[in-house]
Amino acid sequence: MSQQLLRVKDLQVEFKSGSITNKAVNGVSFDLDANESIGIVGESGSGKSVTATSILRLIPNPPGKITGGDIYFKGNNLLEMSNNDIRKVRGNEISMIFQDPSTSLNPVFKVGNQLMESIRTHQNVSKKEAKKKAIEMLELVGIPAPEKRMNMYPHEFSGGMRQRVMIAIALSCNPELLIADEPTTALDVTVQAQILNLMKDLQARLQMSIIMITHDLGVVWETCDKMIVMYAGRVVESGEVKAIYQNPLHPYTWGLLDSQITESQESTEALSAIPGSPPDLSYEIKGCPFADRCPYAQAICYETTPELAEPYQGHAVACHFQTTEQQLERREDAYVDGSTSRS
Ligand SMILES: Nc1ncnc2c1ncn2[C@@H]1O[C@H](COP(=O)(O)OP(=O)(O)OP(=O)(O)O)[C@@H](O)[C@H]1O
Ligand SMILES: [Mg+2]
Repeated sequence: MSQQLLRVKDLQVEFKSGSITNKAVNGVSFDLDANESIGIVGESGSGKSVTATSILRLIPNPPGKITGGDIYFKGNNLLEMSNNDIRKVRGNEISMIFQDPSTSLNPVFKVGNQLMESIRTHQNVSKKEAKKKAIEMLELVGIPAPEKRMNMYPHEFSGGMRQRVMIAIALSCNPELLIADEPTTALDVTVQAQILNLMKDLQARLQMSIIMITHDLGVVWETCDKMIVMYAGRVVESGEVKAIYQNPLHPYTWGLLDSQITESQESTEALSAIPGSPPDLSYEIKGCPFADRCPYAQAICYETTPELAEPYQGHAVACHFQTTEQQLERREDAYVDGSTSRS
C-alpha cells in the first residue's frame, strides 16, 4: 500500500503592502503519496509558487505570512517545526528547483564546487567520488564538456544551462520529495524531454515524489499521476490526470485545455485564451472567483462561493454545477439566456 508523504491542509498565505493585504493562497489542500507525482497548473499569479515555497517555509516575512493551515511531511507538521529542524528537511528530504535559478546559485563559487558540496552534504562519498558524480550529473542534465564546465562560474553559463545546473543540484541530494517550479520552461524541447525523463528515471529508482509546477499541460500529462488546477489562490479542480483530461469539470479547466490544444496545433489564429483576467486578491470576493470570466455563470455564481466537492470519486471541483450533465444543461441555459454578469 502506498504511504502518505505530504499533506497540505487548508493552506492560507497573505502578503501585506501598506494597508493592502493580498490573499495569495486561500485554503489550498492536497495529498501526495510516496513515489507519486502531482502537477500544479494555473495561470500566472494563481499562487502556485507561493504554495510550493510555503512547504519549505521560504515565504519572505515580511511581507508574506502563512496565516493558516497545516503541512504534514511524514506525519510531522512542517509549520510547527523549529528553524533548525526545517533547515535539515530543506535540500535533504525535500529539495526544490526554483522558478528563478539566478537566485539559487552562488555567483562567487565555481559550479563544480557547488555541485560537489551538495553531493557531499547528502551522500557519504570521498571528494574524488563526489567530483566524478558531479561530472556525471552535469552530463545527465545535458551540459556539454562537463569537466571543463566544472571549473566555471555561474555567470559564464547561459540561463538555460544555469537552470540545468540547479536541476542537477536538486537531484543530487536524492530527495524524497522534489518540488520543481517551472523546471524546463527556459529549455529547448529536446533538453526538456531529457530532463523530464531523468526525473522520471530518478523517481522510479529513488521512490521520489514530485510536485511539478508548470504552464505546460503536456508536461503534466507526461509526468504526473494527479493534478490540481489553481485559480485565484484556490484549488478549483483536482484529481487523477487522466480523469481531468477526459472529463474536465471546471469551466476554467476547459479553457486551459482548449488553449493548450490550440498552442500545440501551432495555430496562426490568436490563442483561445480565456478572456478577462483573474480577480484582485486584495478584495473580498463574493461568489465564485471565476464567475466574471465564466461564459456559463448563473445568478448563484455571483452570490455563493462554491466549495470543493467530489462528484466523482477522487475527482473534485469547486463549481455549483459539478457533474457533466449539470454543466451541459447550464451551457444550454447560458445560450438561451445570454450571459449574466456581476452587477
Ligand atoms: N514576495 C512577494 N511579495 C508580494 N507579493 C508576492 C510575493 N510573492 C508572490 N506574491 C503574490 O502572490 C500571488 C501569487 O504568486 P505566485 O508567485 O504564487 O504565482 P504563480 O502562480 O507562481 O505565477 P507564475 O505562473 O507567474 O509563476 C501574486 O499575486 C503575487 O503578486
Ligand atoms: Mg510561479
